[in-house]
Amino acid sequence: MKKFFLWVLFICLLASAFGYILYRYNRMRAENQKYSAPTNINSIEIIDVNELESRAASVIPRGGFDYIAGGAETEQTLRRNISAFDEIDIVPRVLRGVDKPDLRTSVLGIDISLPVIIAPAAAHGLAHISAEAGTARAAAEVDTIMAISNYASSPLRDIAIAGGGAPQWFQLYLSKDDEFNREIVQQAEKLGMRAIVLTVDAPIGGNRFRDARNNFKFPLELPNVAKKSGDTKGQGISAIFAAAQNSFAFDTVQYVKSMTRLPIIVKGIQHPDDADVAIAAGADAIWVSNHGGRQLDGAPASIEVLPEIAARVNKRVPIIFDSGIRNGTHIFKAIAAGADVVAIGRPVIYALSLGGWMGVVSLFDYLKQDLSRVMTLAGAQTIQDIKNTQLRPKCMLVRCAEL
Ligand code: FNR
Ligand code: LAC
Repeated sequence: MKKFFLWVLFICLLASAFGYILYRYNRMRAENQKYSAPTNINSIEIIDVNELESRAASVIPRGGFDYIAGGAETEQTLRRNISAFDEIDIVPRVLRGVDKPDLRTSVLGIDISLPVIIAPAAAHGLAHISAEAGTARAAAEVDTIMAISNYASSPLRDIAIAGGGAPQWFQLYLSKDDEFNREIVQQAEKLGMRAIVLTVDAPIGGNRFRDARNNFKFPLELPNVAKKSGDTKGQGISAIFAAAQNSFAFDTVQYVKSMTRLPIIVKGIQHPDDADVAIAAGADAIWVSNHGGRQLDGAPASIEVLPEIAARVNKRVPIIFDSGIRNGTHIFKAIAAGADVVAIGRPVIYALSLGGWMGVVSLFDYLKQDLSRVMTLAGAQTIQDIKNTQLRPKCMLVRCAEL
């Protein structure tokens, strides 16, 4: 009799465990199916780019929004990327006859309508149903470069087609599989991409508290790497990073350089010595970035490390800069501090969520107007004039006198 009860108890426990697993599985499936990114396509009004974040929060599902907006740990570096710009002043010049400044510039032989390009970011599909194809169309409309993450949620081919021949760069996260690396770089070349961006600041993922709290898993496939990383849908970013290559050195840059005839841009430089290493290994450009504060919390703001790196690079190769750019004064300050062009990450994704490709065009129209105003008020007719503008650290009068 006792044995019988024990058996019944055992079967009940087994049934409840099975029921619980089934319940979790169905919930996860329902969560994933529930993910519905915005679909609308319209221009957006912008007064302050910073406000796009809260507007995007009301249209992007919570897990996706937090993945996009969040940074590592307590997000000190994320916040500082923006606030550090307030510690630098532009010393305006007058009597220079500035009139309707010329925003055009070029980088690695590509002409663009303003010194702002689109940073590579994973999974635009979290923000809008058109995903990277929408962003690519916008980049073509505004005549700038789109850097495409290989963790994009659209196939590379679709993004290339949507770009209609506009300049695109392919951002590579190296796989552990040599053949796959060659295949994907070759595919990017065949699709007409004009440079390979090798990101080296993500050997593993940063500790992102928001994703951990939300137990965030990609609700959409990352089709360009799914073949290698398995079913990327349902995986978190840390697992995806872990499946990729986890260590980078001088010979990593040489390795990528050796597999393509395209220029190589090394992204994620925060120290002048590392800029030297990248250039010695064959980098054709360097990208100063702390990954938008998503990796090492407690790293300096990206703008704080830029002047020293620019001094060391001393024009040997172009410098692309990102992390924290939100308006015309930020663009101006970064260029005056040594960048050739800047890139923006989150604001593009927010604009995409609010209006698809037209939303992203609105963002760029805003940045063009804003930069033009800043250039006029600061006395810079051209991008070269910005480079020759003096910046001053903000300081108490007494300390300024000492400088
Ligand atoms: C990124 N970033 C990034 N970088 C990269 O090299 N490959 C990638 O796949 C991604 N993915 C990614 C996803 C999301 C949602 C964000 C917000 C960022 C970093 C990106 O290229 C860039 O360095 C930062 O976004 C710049 O900071 P701001 O402009 O967002 O402040
Ligand atoms: C990120 C990646 C994918 O920051 O670079 O989430």
